[in-house]
Order: sequence, then C-alpha cells, then structure tokens
Amino acid sequence: MRKLGTFLLCAAGLLAQEGKETVEKLAPYYPTPETIVDKMLRLGGLRAGEKMVDLGSGDGRIVILAAKKYHADATGIEYDLDLFRKSVSKIRSLGLQKIARIIPGDIFKQNYSSADLVTVYLMTDSNEKIRPLLERQLRKGTRVVSHDFEFRGWKPIKTENIEDDGSGRSHTLFLYQR
Ligand SMILES: C[S@@+](CC[C@H](N)C(=O)[O-])C[C@H]1O[C@@H](n2cnc3c(N)ncnc32)[C@H](O)[C@@H]1O
Repeated sequence: MRKLGTFLLCAAGLLAQEGKETVEKLAPYYPTPETIVDKMLRLGGLRAGEKMVDLGSGDGRIVILAAKKYHADATGIEYDLDLFRKSVSKIRSLGLQKIARIIPGDIFKQNYSSADLVTVYLMTDSNEKIRPLLERQLRKGTRVVSHDFEFRGWKPIKTENIEDDGSGRSHTLFLYQR
C-alpha cells in the first residue's frame, strides 16, 4: 500500500514537472540559511510530536531540522523533482523517514488542516495567493512562520529581526496564529 502511495505521489510530481499539470511557481529556489531555519522553528514554538509543514520545501532543510532536532512529524511540499529527490535521499540517509516526508506536488493541492505549524519562505504576492487556502483549512491555534515576507491582512503576534546571519544577510521572521 505504501509503495502504491509512493508511486502515485511520484507520478503526480512527474506530471507536474512535465507540464501536463500546471503548477504555479510561487518562488524560485532560494534556501533559508540553517541558522535561520532553527530560529524559524523556535519562533514557531515547535514541540515534539507536533505536525509541521513547509510550503515549498526546497532541499528539505526545514523539514529535516524539525524532525531531527525538534522530533516533530514533518512534511514538505515541493514540486521541483530534483529538489524532491535530493530531500528524500537526505531524509533516508539520516534515518528520519518515519517522521519526515516530502510530497512531490503543488502547494495549492494539499490539505493543511492537521498542521500545528506551517513554515513559508515564498514572496509577499505568493503569500497573498495562498492566504485564502490557509484561512479555509488551518485549525484555530495553528501557527504560521514566514521568512522575510509578510502575510498582508494578518497581524503578526511576533516579529523577529536578525541583523546578520553570519554572512552579512539580514532576515525578518513573522509569527502568526490563526
Ligand atoms: C525560496 S524557496 C524556499 C525553500 C525552503 N522552504 C527553505 O526555506 O529553504 C521556495 C521553494 O518553493 C518551491 N515552490 C514554488 N512554488 C511551488 C508550488 N506551487 N508548489 C510546490 N513548491 C513550490 C520552489 O521550487 C522552491 O523550492
């Protein structure tokens, strides 16, 4: 059953990649520095056993740290198949496959109603596009942490500014709660 599920997910990802299914690209791949990943998860108050989802998970670094350090049940959504494969192989090599997974698909086509924490590193206009979906699906109390780009219309309960991540880049993290 698990194999069939994996096959169907991969097939969906392949269709997306080949353009048979249109996926709206919400942001290019630009990874969050590891130090900032940890700050995002800490700001989001992630606890062991909680469900977290990273929307557009890139190489899987947020999902991996959420599982490895915070012992959360972590899921990433990534339509780019190279990034999907890279992150799955890292998850396997770390033996985290029971609590971490990547879905090769479109952010718009998933259900986030069981998430305790959602992490996002997209763009302000993209956040605007996914906001109605999150407003429909997220349970009351679910936390959302967005890296660098706010959700217009939502009031952050906390904002964290990091002046220098060690490489001279500054970052802003926004914490919201539904
Ligand atoms: C700025 S990167 C962030 C990667 C990762 N979350 C991080 O912070 O390191 C955005 C990611 O979203 C993915 N992405 C963009 N639009 C998407 C969509 N509609 N469905 C799934 N993934 C998407 C991109 O391929 C890219 O890997």
